Amino acid sequence: MAKIVAGVFTSHVPAIGAALDNGKTAEPYWQRVFGGYEKSKEWIEKVKPDVCIVVFNDHATAFSVDIVPTFALGCAEEFIPADEGWGPRPVPVVKGHPELAAHIAQSVILDEFDLTVVNKMEVDHGLTVPLSLMFGQPAEWPCKIIPLAVNVVLFPPPTGNRCYNLGKAIRKAVESYPEDLRVAIFGTGGMSHQISGPRAGLINSEFDKAFLDALATDPKKAVGIKHVEYMREAGAEGIEMVMWLVARGALDEEVNEVYRFYTVPASNTAVGHLILENKVA
Ligand code: DHB
Ligand code: FE
Repeated sequence: MAKIVAGVFTSHVPAIGAALDNGKTAEPYWQRVFGGYEKSKEWIEKVKPDVCIVVFNDHATAFSVDIVPTFALGCAEEFIPADEGWGPRPVPVVKGHPELAAHIAQSVILDEFDLTVVNKMEVDHGLTVPLSLMFGQPAEWPCKIIPLAVNVVLFPPPTGNRCYNLGKAIRKAVESYPEDLRVAIFGTGGMSHQISGPRAGLINSEFDKAFLDALATDPKKAVGIKHVEYMREAGAEGIEMVMWLVARGALDEEVNEVYRFYTVPASNTAVGHLILENKVA
């Protein structure tokens, strides 16, 4: 049977992708960020997941604002890196796992989570930057990727509780898939940041660190955070953190914390990163 072996949580700051793509990783500003992912790259090379389910958000790239699905599961053979205004990132095409994705869609929808099935989708920095941070700059991504896009762009995004319970349904789906696949689930976005308006540049390390603590040891505490609290404490774009709860819901309530990293700032954003493993992986 397939199983979920670990959760990877990370920010997706677009400037991180630009730094990598433009050869700036050795600059001190960026070394502070990339240095925090060296252990993670070693860890994932050892864990070697067959598939990563990447919970991410589209930034009005694939969907525009004409159609905004709350949860959209990528069921295609492949996903092309999007042009976000500076040409597509020079990263490999993202290869999907249509069979497992279709199985997840069936299981989760019959469990009454009405996902949108997406058979064609370009993927923006929300998905490609976490892959770059974890896998570096390979000629091909080393595993299959199932994208799960969550709306955090247009009010109302789903609640943290809904995200957490969707994670549980995804776990059930994965664990009923007959092939022996090792699956990792990524929760991406965040941490505190606000891109525009009078509070642009807001970062709240205290809130971010409490969120990382809760995720590691007391996920129910993080599940109870309301939208208004994310926005007040972590900035308007801090709401991206609800996506981490999908990945957290797919893990055991008690987990092992493998690794943690936090630095400020990168661009306008606090960078947070956590790796959690189920105790019996
Ligand atoms: C920034 C962060 C984001 O999450 C994003 O989607 C766009 C920009 C930033 O820090 O600049
Ligand atoms: Fe973002």
